[in-house]
Order: sequence, then C-alpha cells, then structure tokens
Amino acid sequence: MKKLIAGNWKMNGTESGAVSLISDIAAGLEKNKALLQRCDFLVCPPATHIYVVKRRIDHGHVPVETGGQDCAATENGAFTGDISAAMLKDMGCGYVILGHSERRTLHKESSALVKEKAGRANAHGLITIICVGETLSEREAGKEFDVVGRHLAESLPSGAGAGNTVIAYEPVWAIGTGMNATPADVKAMHAFIRERLKENVADSANMRILYGGSVKPENASSLFEVENVDGALIGGASLKAEQYLGIAEAA
Ligand code: PGA
Repeated sequence: MKKLIAGNWKMNGTESGAVSLISDIAAGLEKNKALLQRCDFLVCPPATHIYVVKRRIDHGHVPVETGGQDCAATENGAFTGDISAAMLKDMGCGYVILGHSERRTLHKESSALVKEKAGRANAHGLITIICVGETLSEREAGKEFDVVGRHLAESLPSGAGAGNTVIAYEPVWAIGTGMNATPADVKAMHAFIRERLKENVADSANMRILYGGSVKPENASSLFEVENVDGALIGGASLKAEQYLGIAEAA
C-alpha cells in the first residue's frame, strides 16, 4: 500500500501563500518523481484557498489531491457559515478530514456528529479521514484504548470501507507540541485499530491508518517503519514544501 502523505494546513496563510506552497510542492515532486511510486499526496487547505490550489494543480497536472478540513452534516440550505460535502466535491476535492481533535474540542463535535458528516461526505463521493485519539489525561489514566475504540465505534458511518474511509490516529497531546508518540505506542495503537476495524468494516485490511501529531522529516522514517502505519496526517510541517516532501522521502 502506498503511504498517504496528507497535509492539514489548518487556518493558516493567504491565497498567494497557498499558491506558492502548492507550486513549491509541485516543483519538488517534479524533481523527485520517484516519490510518486511510494506515496500518494493530499493537501487540505483552508476552505477559502481550496479553489486556487485546485486550479494550480489542474493547470500544472500536479499529482496532488485536495481535501476539505470539515464539512456540514446536512445538504445545502439555510446553514450560515457551513460548507457542504457537495460543495467540496464540486470544487474538485477528493477527501475531507472529519472529527479532528481541534473540532471535537473547540467546536464540541461529538462522534455522532462526525458519523453523520462522514455518511454525507461518502454519499457525495468524498473519502473521509476520520480522526481518533486520546488526550494526555486519558492516556495517563490508561484509557487510550477505550477512548480510541469508542471513537471508532461511534464515528464510522454504515458503508465505511477501505475505498471511502481513512483513519487518522492523532494522540491529542502530540498535536502541535513537538511530542510525538513513540514507535512502540504507535505500533500498539495501530494494531488495536486494525483489529477493531476487522470487526466493523469490510475490506479492513486495506483501510489506511495514518499517524498524526508532530510528524517531521526527522521522525517520519521511524514512524513509517511501524506496521499498520499507512501514511501521516501532517499539520505544522505541511506548511513548508521542503518538510512536507521530506516526510514523503522518509517513506
Ligand atoms: P501537527 O498537527 O503535525 O502540527 O502536530 C497534526 C494535525 O493536527 O493533524
């Protein structure tokens, strides 16, 4: 399975900065085409920048997919401020990140809501990246497997399978902190996720499980060597083409 190198740009940058970033990624991939044998590439810009990034990708035939960072749980209508799965699809997105811990925490999103959004996204042909992961206090209390098991059981819609769903294990305490989980922690959790998926979804062996949380070029190879790590969801390091592609080089 090729590794999925997914950049989560979060709420960063300007339109011109977004175009520069995708142009730098395009130039890097052009120089190092071998990366495409081992990795698939995805960037998830802020919603306001998806269009320009997609236009740059299409004009330059850049081998990178685009995704949203969230979508609504409903179809189009009177939902001020929301963006629907249909709109992301219409803009050319192939993916959408759902249930990121920043949304679960700052926007009080429940797994039930994530599941509704995921069902809607799948219905519009988007592949969802469903984020799961425990907080530091939950890990310290030895509850990390319970929390992740619950996230999985409650966030995946019916019909979820390897073709339309990716799981991202992101321990909350590792996001943006520079503290990444050890390869042993990642191995144990990814094996647990694989087992749980077996019970719930078809074709579970082929469902990608990404690791996310302070992934950098320096730690990527030790994470990618771990069994059941099928790629990375990258925040901070995805904002610099050199680091983003450096992570792919480690694959
Ligand atoms: P980080 O973010 O790489 O900056 O830790 C990861 C994420 O939130 O997806």
